[in-house]
Amino acid sequence: MSRPPSRGQHAALLRGLVRPAPPALQRAHSVGDIRRLARARTPIMAFDFVDGGAEDELTLRANRAAFERVSFSSRVLVEVADRDLSTSALGTPLSMPVILGPTGTPAFQHPDAELAASRAAVAAGTVLAVSTAGSYTVGEVAAVTEGPLWFQLNPSNDPGLTDHLVDRARAAGCTALIVTVDCSVGGPRERDLRNGWTASPRLTRTNVRDALVHPDRLVRWGLRFRRGPGVHLANIAEYGGHDAVGWITAMFDERQTWAGLERIRERWGGPLAIKGIMSAADARLAAEVGADGIVVSNHGGRQLDGLPGTLEVLPEIADALAGTGVEVLIDGGIRRGGDVAKALALGARACLIARPWVWGLGAAGEAGVSRVLAILRAELDRTLALLGVTSVHDLDRSFTRYPDNYGNRYEGHQSGTGGGGA
Ligand SMILES: Cc1cc2nc3c(=O)[nH]c(=O)nc-3n(C[C@H](O)[C@H](O)[C@H](O)COP(=O)(O)O)c2cc1C
Repeated sequence: MSRPPSRGQHAALLRGLVRPAPPALQRAHSVGDIRRLARARTPIMAFDFVDGGAEDELTLRANRAAFERVSFSSRVLVEVADRDLSTSALGTPLSMPVILGPTGTPAFQHPDAELAASRAAVAAGTVLAVSTAGSYTVGEVAAVTEGPLWFQLNPSNDPGLTDHLVDRARAAGCTALIVTVDCSVGGPRERDLRNGWTASPRLTRTNVRDALVHPDRLVRWGLRFRRGPGVHLANIAEYGGHDAVGWITAMFDERQTWAGLERIRERWGGPLAIKGIMSAADARLAAEVGADGIVVSNHGGRQLDGLPGTLEVLPEIADALAGTGVEVLIDGGIRRGGDVAKALALGARACLIARPWVWGLGAAGEAGVSRVLAILRAELDRTLALLGVTSVHDLDRSFTRYPDNYGNRYEGHQSGTGGGGA
């Protein structure tokens, strides 16, 4: 018969019950929780800038829906005691197949922006891709990063600026270049318009109401924001990174073609991936121009609204590149370790996340980004065990059930360059 608890044990039990709640970050158990925390700590304008998508946000939702429509097919009674999440992408070793994707102006969320994100990435054994529209220069980020760093390039309509950015990334010691090709023009983000979150922010009904209802949030955020680099785009500072004209020159190019990519590849000379591929035809062209990788991406639903979810087109694109050696990365809507497993099973080598790490930053700076990575790692690790596999490299389509239309939608596209040269 068990003895009743002693006085000491009673006291310990009571202490456990009345122990103060752990800090909010420790109470965040999912990326969704981190998002809610960021929401509570950021004014609506800054939050919606990250959270929102283009026009009706069809593609934003399609990214999530594409993951939700895929289910797992698991194996049981497999010895899974030793699990290995490690892999590599574009020659960079990774402790897990999750990379921090490029996002512009993260200083709107936290003054340490990419400095914090890159430190968190390296501590977790992964890597950050610093955006052309970064809040800190890629050199400043490299200076605090004791590990690998990537750079994301928006090819500019000013070739001098493109060269300047490529040289800057090389000088900073970046180990891979991600070239974003889905920004011929800016995406129509209507939440930003409603919130007055434009190149010159203005008062609107939404942001005034938010300020009146949550003045504390605005003040705390404002004080934090003043400690950082502000609205300035550090990598293009010499090219007008302080004003809207400079931003547009750097971020968008209506005349960019595949020929321009070849020029960038030659100047860079290192591992290069093309980000924004949504068709097998373009994936084949990426292979032809000598890309080492592609990122299947619709820019997180922030550019062309109406594109399908990225996971939906992944199998077809992976098939198109089979045997070429071109690595297939993917982003868009990845919120769980299980989503990473689904993407790997359907043909990706690794995943990029964007909003999740930026929410982490808004929630708690570097600790918030670390928390996001820890959550995703734990979820992916558990998913592998429950699927009955011990390595991320063992995932294949047999571990999923996915709708018939995944991967057969783009055969109608011509494999041409649209007149832009090969
Ligand atoms: C706030 C924000 C800023 C972004 N800025 C860039 C950018 O400067 N360059 C780029 O290639 N992609 C940018 N993206 C797109 C992401 O890299 C990525 O493709 C997409 O957001 C991934 O989807 P997810 O946010 O659902 O993870 C940005 C995304 C967000 C949310």
